Amino acid sequence: MDKNITLLKGDGIGPEIVSQAVKVLDAVAKKYGHTFNYTEVDIGGCSIDKYGVPITDEGMEKCKSADAVLLGAVGGPKWDSVDPSIRPEKALLAVRRELGLFANLRPTKLFSQLADSSPLKESIVGGGIDLMIVRELTGGIYFGKRRTETVGGERVATDEMTYSEHEIERIGRVAFEAALKRGKKLASVDKANVLDSSRLWRAVMHRLAEEYTQVEYSDILVDNTAMQLIKNPTQFDVIVTENMFGDILSDEASMLTGSIGMMPSASLSSGPLGMYEPIHGSAPDIAGMDIANPIGTVMSAAMMLRYSFDMAAEADAIEAAVNKALDDGYRTPDIYKDGFTKVGCSAMGDVLAANI
Ligand code: IPM
Ligand code: MG
Repeated sequence: MDKNITLLKGDGIGPEIVSQAVKVLDAVAKKYGHTFNYTEVDIGGCSIDKYGVPITDEGMEKCKSADAVLLGAVGGPKWDSVDPSIRPEKALLAVRRELGLFANLRPTKLFSQLADSSPLKESIVGGGIDLMIVRELTGGIYFGKRRTETVGGERVATDEMTYSEHEIERIGRVAFEAALKRGKKLASVDKANVLDSSRLWRAVMHRLAEEYTQVEYSDILVDNTAMQLIKNPTQFDVIVTENMFGDILSDEASMLTGSIGMMPSASLSSGPLGMYEPIHGSAPDIAGMDIANPIGTVMSAAMMLRYSFDMAAEADAIEAAVNKALDDGYRTPDIYKDGFTKVGCSAMGDVLAANI
């Protein structure tokens, strides 16, 4: 197959980690007889520096016309004080919105080789962590009306959290379908004891639960979810939640696995076009040092093959390559322990590519 991939390397460690994913994708292309064509588009701070905006219109078009988009990370302290309307993160939100990427899948899996990297006790994670967070990505407070005004001599800022039934239903369906393909359990996370948007969320989820009778469904409040993820994380299979709750809970869940550097994500639309990115940020403190962990990005590339290109065997090959590298003792500094082989970002990319 011939596929066009738009690369959004971004800022900080973004270029380093995306380059490793490209190495691995090229190894896959060679082995399975595919052609992957790459188009690079600047996003985030690097684009602000060059063009004064975090993504150009032409850049956005190159995302829309691609078969899939692979992203590194955006942002950094250098751009913290730019006007909010052109912040690096704005570009990321704009791409999500313009490409209709409403469903963000964040699988959280503890690699058995890294069981002792989890900050939680063996008695808690020993059974193995394998859960999937399905985060709504184009609605809620991230995209609600916002304003800062002066009222009674002081500034007042407002961000609205809005959800309509169709937005809840479509993400709910993605989550129920994901549960059917996994452990057939779905926990819907909300704050229905306080928020109207959560009460609507819950009502729509209950309607869907009647349809998906093979899925064991439960409601759970977001604060309790934060606690249960630490107390008893193995109770979860699929978790579905709104945009901001999902942002927060997915960072928390990633820590169950020891390193946020291992965690991939897929942002899906109603068609084949998707964007794939590690869930971590641009890590400006280690940018350019060749010590970042590229596995989250490489695993995101595997999700790209699986979800956008329907290449299951190729995706399996990438996951097997990661498992083999860990079995063989290769570790980037974030997951390194005495007795293992410490490698940098680029060397890990070479190992993974060679394992394909
Ligand atoms: C994420 C990130 C983004 C988000 C930021 C960079 C805007 O934290 O993908 O989780 O909040 O969605
Ligand atoms: Mg986040």
